[in-house]
Amino acid sequence: MAQTEDMGINFHTRKWVKPEDLNANGTLFGGSLLRWIDEEAAIYAIIQLGNYRVVTKFISEINFEASAQQGDLIEMGLIATHFGRTSLTMRAVVRNMITRRTILTIDRIVFVNVDEEGRPTPHGYSSITYNRDRMPTEHPQTGTIRTV
Ligand SMILES: CC(C)(COP(=O)(O)OP(=O)(O)OC[C@H]1O[C@@H](n2cnc3c(N)ncnc32)[C@H](O)[C@@H]1OP(=O)(O)O)[C@@H](O)C(=O)NCCC(=O)NCCS
Repeated sequence: MAQTEDMGINFHTRKWVKPEDLNANGTLFGGSLLRWIDEEAAIYAIIQLGNYRVVTKFISEINFEASAQQGDLIEMGLIATHFGRTSLTMRAVVRNMITRRTILTIDRIVFVNVDEEGRPTPHGYSSITYNRDRMPTEHPQTGTIRTV
Protein backbone atom coordinates (compact mmCIF):
# COMPACT_ATOMS: atom_id res chain seq x y z
CA MET A 1 0.00 0.00 0.00
CA ALA A 2 1.32 3.40 -0.91
CA GLN A 3 0.51 5.97 1.76
CA THR A 4 1.06 8.72 -0.81
CA GLU A 5 -2.03 7.47 -2.67
CA ASP A 6 -4.10 8.52 0.31
CA MET A 7 -2.74 12.04 0.64
CA GLY A 8 -5.46 14.64 0.84
CA ILE A 9 -8.18 12.07 1.35
CA ASN A 10 -10.42 12.36 4.37
CA PHE A 11 -11.60 9.02 5.68
CA HIS A 12 -15.01 9.99 7.02
CA THR A 13 -16.97 6.77 7.10
CA ARG A 14 -16.22 3.60 8.97
CA LYS A 15 -17.90 0.23 8.59
CA TRP A 16 -17.89 -2.92 10.64
CA VAL A 17 -17.91 -6.00 8.38
CA LYS A 18 -20.96 -8.05 9.40
CA PRO A 19 -22.18 -11.53 8.35
CA GLU A 20 -24.57 -10.05 5.75
CA ASP A 21 -21.62 -8.32 4.04
CA LEU A 22 -19.76 -11.55 3.25
CA ASN A 23 -19.42 -13.45 -0.02
CA ALA A 24 -19.52 -17.24 -0.39
CA ASN A 25 -15.81 -17.28 0.39
CA GLY A 26 -16.48 -15.79 3.82
CA THR A 27 -14.78 -12.48 3.05
CA LEU A 28 -16.17 -9.02 2.35
CA PHE A 29 -18.62 -9.03 -0.60
CA GLY A 30 -17.56 -6.58 -3.31
CA GLY A 31 -21.18 -5.59 -3.92
CA SER A 32 -21.60 -4.39 -0.34
CA LEU A 33 -18.46 -2.33 -0.62
CA LEU A 34 -19.60 -0.73 -3.88
CA ARG A 35 -22.99 0.14 -2.38
CA TRP A 36 -21.26 1.88 0.54
CA ILE A 37 -18.88 3.74 -1.76
CA ASP A 38 -21.66 4.86 -4.12
CA GLU A 39 -23.61 6.26 -1.15
CA GLU A 40 -20.50 7.92 0.26
CA ALA A 41 -19.72 9.46 -3.14
CA ALA A 42 -23.29 10.72 -3.49
CA ILE A 43 -23.12 12.46 -0.11
CA TYR A 44 -19.71 13.92 -0.97
CA ALA A 45 -21.05 15.20 -4.32
CA ILE A 46 -24.09 16.76 -2.61
CA ILE A 47 -21.81 18.60 -0.18
CA GLN A 48 -19.43 19.76 -2.92
CA LEU A 49 -22.05 20.74 -5.52
CA GLY A 50 -24.78 22.04 -3.19
CA ASN A 51 -27.50 19.98 -4.86
CA TYR A 52 -29.38 16.88 -3.75
CA ARG A 53 -29.89 15.97 -7.41
CA VAL A 54 -26.64 14.24 -8.25
CA VAL A 55 -26.43 10.89 -10.06
CA THR A 56 -23.72 8.31 -10.59
CA LYS A 57 -22.51 8.53 -14.19
CA PHE A 58 -19.30 6.53 -14.36
CA ILE A 59 -17.16 4.29 -12.18
CA SER A 60 -13.72 3.43 -13.53
CA GLU A 61 -11.77 0.23 -13.07
CA ILE A 62 -12.07 -1.08 -9.55
CA ASN A 63 -9.00 -2.65 -8.05
CA PHE A 64 -9.74 -4.95 -5.11
CA GLU A 65 -6.26 -5.10 -3.63
CA ALA A 66 -6.93 -6.93 -0.39
CA SER A 67 -9.85 -8.49 1.39
CA ALA A 68 -11.52 -8.03 4.76
CA GLN A 69 -12.95 -10.54 7.21
CA GLN A 70 -16.05 -10.53 9.37
CA GLY A 71 -15.49 -8.23 12.32
CA ASP A 72 -12.91 -6.09 10.53
CA LEU A 73 -13.24 -2.32 10.68
CA ILE A 74 -12.80 -0.53 7.40
CA GLU A 75 -12.75 3.15 6.48
CA MET A 76 -13.68 4.89 3.25
CA GLY A 77 -12.13 8.01 1.84
CA LEU A 78 -12.98 10.25 -1.10
CA ILE A 79 -11.46 13.29 -2.69
CA ALA A 80 -12.61 15.40 -5.60
CA THR A 81 -10.06 15.27 -8.41
CA HIS A 82 -11.86 17.27 -11.10
CA PHE A 83 -14.69 19.79 -11.21
CA GLY A 84 -16.24 19.75 -14.67
CA ARG A 85 -19.06 21.93 -15.95
CA THR A 86 -21.86 19.62 -14.81
CA SER A 87 -19.80 16.77 -13.34
CA LEU A 88 -17.60 16.02 -10.37
CA THR A 89 -14.87 13.37 -10.51
CA MET A 90 -13.73 11.71 -7.29
CA ARG A 91 -11.09 9.21 -6.26
CA ALA A 92 -11.96 6.57 -3.64
CA VAL A 93 -9.80 4.54 -1.28
CA VAL A 94 -11.01 1.95 1.22
CA ARG A 95 -8.63 0.57 3.79
CA ASN A 96 -8.49 -1.70 6.78
CA MET A 97 -8.32 0.42 9.93
CA ILE A 98 -6.22 -2.06 11.83
CA THR A 99 -3.68 -3.21 9.26
CA ARG A 100 -3.88 0.04 7.22
CA ARG A 101 -3.82 -2.12 4.09
CA THR A 102 -5.67 -0.72 1.11
CA ILE A 103 -8.69 -2.89 0.32
CA LEU A 104 -9.80 -1.06 -2.81
CA THR A 105 -9.07 1.94 -4.97
CA ILE A 106 -11.22 3.56 -7.64
CA ASP A 107 -9.46 6.24 -9.66
CA ARG A 108 -12.55 7.89 -11.12
CA ILE A 109 -16.10 8.07 -9.87
CA VAL A 110 -18.07 10.62 -11.87
CA PHE A 111 -21.29 12.16 -10.60
CA VAL A 112 -23.43 14.52 -12.67
CA ASN A 113 -25.36 17.47 -11.29
CA VAL A 114 -28.90 17.33 -12.71
CA ASP A 115 -31.99 19.54 -12.71
CA GLU A 116 -35.61 18.67 -11.85
CA GLU A 117 -35.98 16.94 -15.21
CA GLY A 118 -32.83 14.85 -14.73
CA ARG A 119 -30.86 16.86 -17.29
CA PRO A 120 -27.20 17.77 -16.67
CA THR A 121 -26.95 21.29 -15.32
CA PRO A 122 -23.87 23.42 -14.48
CA HIS A 123 -22.92 23.38 -10.81
CA GLY A 124 -20.74 26.46 -10.90
CA TYR A 125 -17.95 25.15 -8.64
CA SER A 126 -14.28 24.60 -9.41
CA SER A 127 -12.65 23.73 -6.08
CA ILE A 128 -13.18 21.63 -2.98
CA THR A 129 -14.98 22.94 0.06
CA TYR A 130 -13.96 21.56 3.44
CA ASN A 131 -16.89 23.25 5.14
CA ARG A 132 -20.66 22.91 4.99
CA ASP A 133 -21.12 26.17 3.13
CA ARG A 134 -22.75 24.62 0.05
CA MET A 135 -25.25 22.40 1.84
CA PRO A 136 -28.54 22.41 -0.10
CA THR A 137 -31.46 23.90 1.80
CA GLU A 138 -34.21 22.65 -0.47
CA HIS A 139 -35.16 19.00 -0.23
CA PRO A 140 -36.08 17.43 -3.60
CA GLN A 141 -38.88 15.23 -2.24
CA THR A 142 -40.64 17.72 -0.03
CA GLY A 143 -39.51 21.06 -1.43
CA THR A 144 -39.00 22.11 2.17
CA ILE A 145 -36.75 25.07 2.82
CA ARG A 146 -34.81 24.54 6.00
CA THR A 147 -33.14 27.55 7.51
CA VAL A 148 -31.93 25.89 10.70
C1 LIG B 1 -26.27 11.47 -15.96
C2 LIG B 1 -27.00 11.78 -17.26
C3 LIG B 1 -28.10 12.77 -17.01
C4 LIG B 1 -25.94 12.42 -18.17
O1 LIG B 1 -26.50 12.58 -19.42
P1 LIG B 1 -25.52 12.76 -20.70
O2 LIG B 1 -26.38 12.90 -21.88
O3 LIG B 1 -24.45 11.73 -20.67
O4 LIG B 1 -24.90 14.17 -20.36
P2 LIG B 1 -23.66 14.88 -21.00
O5 LIG B 1 -23.16 14.18 -22.23
O6 LIG B 1 -24.06 16.31 -21.09
O7 LIG B 1 -22.53 14.72 -19.89
C5 LIG B 1 -22.71 15.26 -18.61
C6 LIG B 1 -21.39 15.21 -17.89
O8 LIG B 1 -21.01 13.86 -17.69
C7 LIG B 1 -19.73 13.61 -18.23
N1 LIG B 1 -19.72 12.28 -18.79
C8 LIG B 1 -20.59 11.80 -19.71
N2 LIG B 1 -20.27 10.53 -19.99
C9 LIG B 1 -19.20 10.21 -19.24
C10 LIG B 1 -18.42 9.03 -19.08
N3 LIG B 1 -18.67 7.93 -19.77
N4 LIG B 1 -17.40 9.07 -18.22
C11 LIG B 1 -17.12 10.18 -17.51
N5 LIG B 1 -17.84 11.34 -17.61
C12 LIG B 1 -18.86 11.33 -18.47
C13 LIG B 1 -19.55 14.66 -19.31
O9 LIG B 1 -18.18 14.90 -19.55
C14 LIG B 1 -20.24 15.84 -18.68
O10 LIG B 1 -19.41 16.43 -17.72
P3 LIG B 1 -19.01 18.03 -17.76
O11 LIG B 1 -20.30 18.80 -17.99
O12 LIG B 1 -18.46 18.31 -16.41
O13 LIG B 1 -18.04 18.20 -18.85
C15 LIG B 1 -27.58 10.50 -17.93
O14 LIG B 1 -26.55 9.72 -18.51
C16 LIG B 1 -28.33 9.64 -16.93
O15 LIG B 1 -29.41 9.99 -16.49
N6 LIG B 1 -27.72 8.51 -16.53
C17 LIG B 1 -28.29 7.65 -15.50
C18 LIG B 1 -27.78 8.12 -14.14
C19 LIG B 1 -28.26 7.24 -13.04
O16 LIG B 1 -29.44 6.94 -12.93
N7 LIG B 1 -27.34 6.82 -12.20
C20 LIG B 1 -27.63 5.94 -11.11
C21 LIG B 1 -27.14 4.58 -11.42
S1 LIG B 1 -28.42 3.52 -11.97
